[in-house]
Amino acid sequence: MTALPALEELEAQMVQDLSLPLKSNLVFGEGNPEAKVLFVGEAPGAVEDEQKRPFVGRAGQLLNKLIENIGWRREDVYITNVVKRRPPENRDPLPEEIEAYKPYLEREIAIVNPKIIVPLGRFAMSYFLPDGKISRDQGAVFLSKGILIMPAYHPAAALRNPNLIADLKDAFAKLPKLIEKHQEIMERKLSEAQENAPKTPHSLF
Ligand code: URA
Repeated sequence: MTALPALEELEAQMVQDLSLPLKSNLVFGEGNPEAKVLFVGEAPGAVEDEQKRPFVGRAGQLLNKLIENIGWRREDVYITNVVKRRPPENRDPLPEEIEAYKPYLEREIAIVNPKIIVPLGRFAMSYFLPDGKISRDQGAVFLSKGILIMPAYHPAAALRNPNLIADLKDAFAKLPKLIEKHQEIMERKLSEAQENAPKTPHSLF
């Protein structure tokens, strides 16, 4: 099955899955089903819930600008969230909500099969890099489960604290190079991972 029908089927399964927590509208991912770059936020807000589309409020407008600044269009990338329903009063998603939505995000990522994932903010980052720290790791590149991960500040955080915008722009500015040099960077990251892996003791016999 090609990516688009597979995503449509996944969305239909989510709609039917009454075991999922949170009762607001389902806000499924959107964009190019075969995008090279996938952005993932934490959970939809009020505007997203209303329009049933991810990142269409103020944070979404900033995200669009950051994407356009590097010469791309929103339609070229794929945009989704870890938790796909709005938590009440925009509270942080609970660990059990993240856990419940996780198998669907995993399948969504497997279908799109991006070269790079950009988790936006600390919740999305810790899904991929549980030991990560957003203030230290934003804009750095990691390898997780065979995919390059570049965490970035959440655009909503940059709207609250404009001091973060310059770093956020710098992080986005790296993306075209990361795509161009993807193979080379993957090979380097894989060999670093091998060098850092605990050595299995050689048997003496
Ligand atoms: N913040 C998010 O994390 N996701 C959205 O879709 C909108 C705002």
